[in-house]
Amino acid sequence: MCGIVGMVSADEFYAREAVQRLKRLEYRGYDSFGYYYDGKLFKKTGHIIVPETKDRTKMIITHTRWATHGGVTDANAHPHRAGKVTIVHNGIIENYEELREGLKEKGRVFSSETDSEVAAHYFDEKLKTKPMKEACVDFIKDIKGEFAILVMIDREDTLYALRRDSPMVLGVGENINILASDIYAFSDVTSKAIFFENDEFAAVKSGSYTFYDRHGKEIKKKIQQFKWEQEESTREEYEHFMLKEIMEEPKAVRRLILSLETEQKENFGKFVKLMKESRKVTFVASGTSYHASLLGVYYLHKCGVEAQTIIASEFEHFVGVDRNTLVVAISQSGETMDVIEALKYAKKNRAKIASIVNVPYSTVQRMSEISLNIVAGQEICVAATKSFVNQVTLMLSIAREFGFRINTSNIPGKIEKIFRQKDKIEKMAKELNRHNDIYVLGRGLSYPVAREIALKIKEISYMHAEGMMGGELKHGTIALIEKGTPVIGLISNKDYDMLSNIKEVEARGAHVIKITNEMKGDFMVDTSNDGKFGILATIVGQLLTYYVAKERGLPIDKPRNLAKSVTVK
Ligand code: AGP
Repeated sequence: MCGIVGMVSADEFYAREAVQRLKRLEYRGYDSFGYYYDGKLFKKTGHIIVPETKDRTKMIITHTRWATHGGVTDANAHPHRAGKVTIVHNGIIENYEELREGLKEKGRVFSSETDSEVAAHYFDEKLKTKPMKEACVDFIKDIKGEFAILVMIDREDTLYALRRDSPMVLGVGENINILASDIYAFSDVTSKAIFFENDEFAAVKSGSYTFYDRHGKEIKKKIQQFKWEQEESTREEYEHFMLKEIMEEPKAVRRLILSLETEQKENFGKFVKLMKESRKVTFVASGTSYHASLLGVYYLHKCGVEAQTIIASEFEHFVGVDRNTLVVAISQSGETMDVIEALKYAKKNRAKIASIVNVPYSTVQRMSEISLNIVAGQEICVAATKSFVNQVTLMLSIAREFGFRINTSNIPGKIEKIFRQKDKIEKMAKELNRHNDIYVLGRGLSYPVAREIALKIKEISYMHAEGMMGGELKHGTIALIEKGTPVIGLISNKDYDMLSNIKEVEARGAHVIKITNEMKGDFMVDTSNDGKFGILATIVGQLLTYYVAKERGLPIDKPRNLAKSVTVK
């Protein structure tokens, strides 16, 4: 979490341009923001405001924060300054207390509660006796934890960048170099990027750069020429990115299907082959991506494939992997720290790594032997919507190779049919708005859907929602059902067990909202296929969530306490 952008150019540019670039990364955190150039420091809580200033500069660093150490205050916002050093940092310096005590003994005075400020004092102190290159080597040695850090030194024309476990990439332009948390910050300026690996650092000037390893030895880095399916980053006629991104779902699915038949065809074949050759297939993912993996496991299981999925943050506690295991990571951002940690564990145990990501060249993709892109285009709203739909479509395409019966080509048309029920969904949202708790019940293929809908309702509508297995209800949760409690029931293909669970809550006065394909329900999805039901029912849930949140006047695209890319443990 946290987004950083630093620019160094031979020609002057507007300082506000850097802040505009930072705004593209606001999904990484939006507790506070700040920037520093030519002796001017600005930092403030709240969403990024691009300054009116006509100031021009040749070097700037900027930061958008997702708070970890220290509350959301102006003082804790980045950049942090100490002496002649100014820094921005993404990550967590785990041994910051110890380092801070040592620096305090040297007379250093701290003005924030953050772990990051330590880095500013650390470099300023080191620079008294050493050149910056050596200070960077020491920093990498002394710091425990994660960092993507930019360091600016007063009156110097070099920007220093260091990385461990938090993303950092250099965009190489004509007479301009841009350091950022991801390529989206500069994808309009250059398609040439150099990705930092762990414990590397670089000294970057306007027309040149030098990379070093952890020992300070110069290293040659490969420039990657990237191509990134980028939707326009404007909301167009939509009030929120969330709605825009839901409406893009049919287009995103079409693009994925085409790409699997063309540019990703060969890779797709290799991916499936690797799965077929592996004795054990274990998925790993977090949040919405985990729900997509659960659906994937369901589809594969239906065609006799032994597969499992484990939540990334608990991966190493609940699963054993070895050289016969293929670990498949699913991640929209490709930067989720829990997923990366799980992959490191898998690598240590000599498992093979594959991945399914949306953001190309992301860390997860670069850690994988083979990787498929879901080509959903940039997703700006914190809530995953179109990326989920494309993850599931890709899982269906994979399952088809194992014998799952599915025609993916008509998915876009069926999604459009869901959109036609928008008014009805909006009306239902008005009714749900009066409640603070909701239960979403599913069984089998609709169980992951229940969890996904509940997650959306929680993060965007701020309503307590429980997504659960219909069969588990009677083991406790049913005690919470009373007259009028809203319950969403997901009933696919006349699932009579699910119907019984619905009857059980109805008998206790619940108000049941049915999403179904074959029976009379509140919302109908047009499919008799188990695979498509998962996608279509989720979209009803996405729209319901959106309209409840809208009714409540909530910050839909940037819900409180969250960030799109979760790069802390
Ligand atoms: C979903 O709406 C979330 N905001 C969140 O659960 C997300 O899916 C999770 O953090 C995983 O992210 P990833 O797909 O980028 O790894």
